Amino acid sequence: MISMSLGEIARIVGGELHDGDADALVDGPVEYDSRKVGPGGLFVAFAGAKVDAHEFAAKAMADGATGVLGSRPVPGVPTIVVEDPRHAMGLLAREVIDRLPGLTVIALTGSSGKTSTKDLVARLLAVHGPTVATFGSENNELGTPYTVLKADARTRFLVLEMGARGAGHLRYLCEIAPPDVAVVLNVGVAHIAEFGSVEGIAQAKGELVEALGPDGVAVLNADDERVRAMAARTSARVVLTGEGSDAEVRATEVVALDRGRFGFTLHIPGAEAVPVRLDVAGRHSVGNALLAAAVASHAGLEPAAIAAGLGDLEGLSTRRMDVFDRADGVTVIDDSFNANPASMAAALRVLVAVADGRRKIAVLGFMAELGEYERAGHEEVGRLAAELGVDRLVAVSEQAAPILDGAAAVASWGGDSVLVTDQEAAVALLRAELLPRDVVLVKGSRYRTWDVADALRSEGVRK
Ligand SMILES: Nc1ncnc2c1ncn2[C@@H]1O[C@H](COP(=O)(O)OP(=O)(O)OP(=O)(O)O)[C@@H](O)[C@H]1O
Ligand SMILES: [Mg+2]
Repeated sequence: MISMSLGEIARIVGGELHDGDADALVDGPVEYDSRKVGPGGLFVAFAGAKVDAHEFAAKAMADGATGVLGSRPVPGVPTIVVEDPRHAMGLLAREVIDRLPGLTVIALTGSSGKTSTKDLVARLLAVHGPTVATFGSENNELGTPYTVLKADARTRFLVLEMGARGAGHLRYLCEIAPPDVAVVLNVGVAHIAEFGSVEGIAQAKGELVEALGPDGVAVLNADDERVRAMAARTSARVVLTGEGSDAEVRATEVVALDRGRFGFTLHIPGAEAVPVRLDVAGRHSVGNALLAAAVASHAGLEPAAIAAGLGDLEGLSTRRMDVFDRADGVTVIDDSFNANPASMAAALRVLVAVADGRRKIAVLGFMAELGEYERAGHEEVGRLAAELGVDRLVAVSEQAAPILDGAAAVASWGGDSVLVTDQEAAVALLRAELLPRDVVLVKGSRYRTWDVADALRSEGVRK
């Protein structure tokens, strides 16, 4: 964080400093996990239902913290007391952004692919200037200020993944971090239970472009009608991306390469078209890459540098489209981070592309938070799996069973299916059935879907 005194911070967040020297400087990281606190840092103490982090305040001080931001005084510990420490982090983050006029704030939202695209953007921009980006998927009212508070005077680009679970959420996040560039990927049914309808989701996601000032830039995926329509909700410049002829940043000649990856010709206005070979799997990655290319181009990167960056993506966030080969010749697609019907569809298409004629096995778990769309969403995924010719469909847990119903409804399907009770049963089944050359997709809504992918990774050699 940029350095500020405890007195200044107290004023910014509307808190009161207890037991401390107002001139003491915070010039280290702001952390809410006491184990991460370092010299000169600020420890944010949350009083949770199970753990009251104020109990770790003294330890944070012993580890070098300058002070604590909390909701009650801690005797003998310099503490800025506020009603809601999380909201206070937001106020502090906003102040940091206001004090860094050279910073370009890029915010991304969408139903699927935020983290994947955020990673692409951050990877491209980091070549151009010091970049701070959301870690993993920490895209809410805690992760956003937390990420912002990592920026300092050297930071050129702040890349923020922003998530919304309802109306007003993005508006709030944009008050913390007003975007200079707002990127919207797609409007799908992720978290539909909280939103009520797809229209409600579109309305809420559009809050991101509404937060742009007149000098801002909205980067919109024109291949998604609901996203394209958001152009009307901002007075900022709009850059459309996509595969249609009216997209400003555009892909043509999209071709399938090896291992589920794609290549295309990238068109950016004012520059010669360049070939791109994506180093990340999935047809949907083309759209993500176009959005990232538009942001990078706006930031001043040359198309050749963008193409080079998109072609070399080692070490991106894990569990998303991670295709690896085992010693026994089985290929695994670990996309176990999360799932909704759109990302399931994307992953199934990757399975088909990677398999390229080899046996296709899909191990699919439950998709959370679909509300009344839950049954239909699972059936739709099963239907697509069957239509795409998945050979063996494994549904993990009773909740995921409607996937099999959807597949069974496709009369022409020649594959077969099985329901297993849990992740261990899925691993046992795979252990017994996998043959060299099989291609296995593992996907579901977080939680223990990971365990299946991890087991497949560690059991590289068939017993
Ligand atoms: N443009 C896209 N369309 C559909 N699916 C996508 C797209 N981009 C990525 N995916 C898939 O969606 C899943 C989630 O990807 P990612 O983690 O990037 O999304 P997210 O929006 O950050 O999710 P979350 O809301 O959990 O933070 C992955 O399986 C990924 O392969
Ligand atoms: Mg995410």
